[in-house]
Amino acid sequence: MNKPIHQFFTEDHHRIEKLLINATKKSGEIEMDYYHQFRTQLLRHIKMEEKILFPAAKKANPEVMKELLPQYRLEHGALTALMVPPPTLSLIKVIRYLLDKHDLAEEEPGGLYDVCERLTHEQTQEILEQLMATKEVPVHPPNPAPIAMASARRALERAGYDYDEMLRNAESQKK
Ligand SMILES: [Fe+2]
Ligand SMILES: [Fe+2]
Repeated sequence: MNKPIHQFFTEDHHRIEKLLINATKKSGEIEMDYYHQFRTQLLRHIKMEEKILFPAAKKANPEVMKELLPQYRLEHGALTALMVPPPTLSLIKVIRYLLDKHDLAEEEPGGLYDVCERLTHEQTQEILEQLMATKEVPVHPPNPAPIAMASARRALERAGYDYDEMLRNAESQKK
């Protein structure tokens, strides 16, 4: 089956993942140019889901989306909060761990993108045009204040995750 919306978002996931891989290609270092691109592109991606895809799917079937959306929204909140502190190698491991899980749940057969694609099949072209026209989100420079890290940890907890446990899991996974 032709799935243009699924394909559009999956390609965007890969593009964004590559930016993060590039940011940490040199071992022990973070290349801030790539990390900055990663941040702005990930925030744009979340904006496309929250402002275009989810409302369109919700309009088509509010009941189904009311069940599905809260966890994705909490994870978007956590990812957004994790974009605020200055990156460290540990922070990036946690971001990747969450992002891998989140992206997979959206992409897997019968996952969020398949559901949204089905619900919005009459507006596919219109949605794609809106997605492609989405502008980047303006971002502040990273915030080194401890409160930024504390907020990120709390946002993760709201989504059902523990920062330290994620870091341990990420470190025990050989990638
Ligand atoms: Fe998402
Ligand atoms: Fe996504």
